[in-house]
Amino acid sequence: MTMIQHIQKELTPLYQKLNSHHIYKKVDDNNKLQTFMENHVYSVWDFMSLVKFLQNHFAPSSPPWKPREHKDIIHFINDIVLEEESDHLPDGRTMSHFEMYCLAMAEVGANSDKPFSFVQNITSTNLQEQMNSFDLPLEIQAGVQKTFGFLDSHKPHIAAAAFCFGRENMIPNMFRELLNKMNISKEQAPLFHFYLSRHIELDGEIHGPMALKMVEILCADDKQRWEEALTTAQDSIQSRINLWNYIESIL
Ligand SMILES: [Fe+2]
Repeated sequence: MTMIQHIQKELTPLYQKLNSHHIYKKVDDNNKLQTFMENHVYSVWDFMSLVKFLQNHFAPSSPPWKPREHKDIIHFINDIVLEEESDHLPDGRTMSHFEMYCLAMAEVGANSDKPFSFVQNITSTNLQEQMNSFDLPLEIQAGVQKTFGFLDSHKPHIAAAAFCFGRENMIPNMFRELLNKMNISKEQAPLFHFYLSRHIELDGEIHGPMALKMVEILCADDKQRWEEALTTAQDSIQSRINLWNYIESIL
């Protein structure tokens, strides 16, 4: 068994817990969808910092440029940034997935001004201050702090494990459950449906396997790194379960 297979086996019960969560079927009217989105939007946002951290590791943007190792990972991470930071809407407009999510929120009458203002003046040093001044619930803060905690470790294999197991290999099944079980039609929330389907399509086939490869490259033969990758993966999935528990409790 490879180390990746070992991690995947260890994560199976957590993924099962996440995918069988009761929150999905509880999103059954417009009010609940608004509440769901107003709280979930912060993990849509913090994902980008994970991606940018990894892009900066494999394909730094600061000059002078030079050829670097792991070209297929560079292609992969640049491709993710392209789609996440500048994707096309069905009407042809181009924007980040965070902005797309905010539009989808506005479409169903959720408060998209709050997350948008929250990120406007965000810096690398005022995150906690912003979360306090925008009165984000402690449960939401915990999820964001978890993500930025991974980045604060300055260990690329930890960021990659959070990205790989806590996002790319987790999101397609999770969103599939949400699409199947929530009682919100495509007519009620067209952009939200588009957002979910787009992620199932993008992440499923190519992103998942490439993210696994990224973890393999970064952990290489280092036993401690593999252990940290597993712990990070478990923490990330648990963090999402905690977020779902919280949102379910206020629906
Ligand atoms: Fe996205």
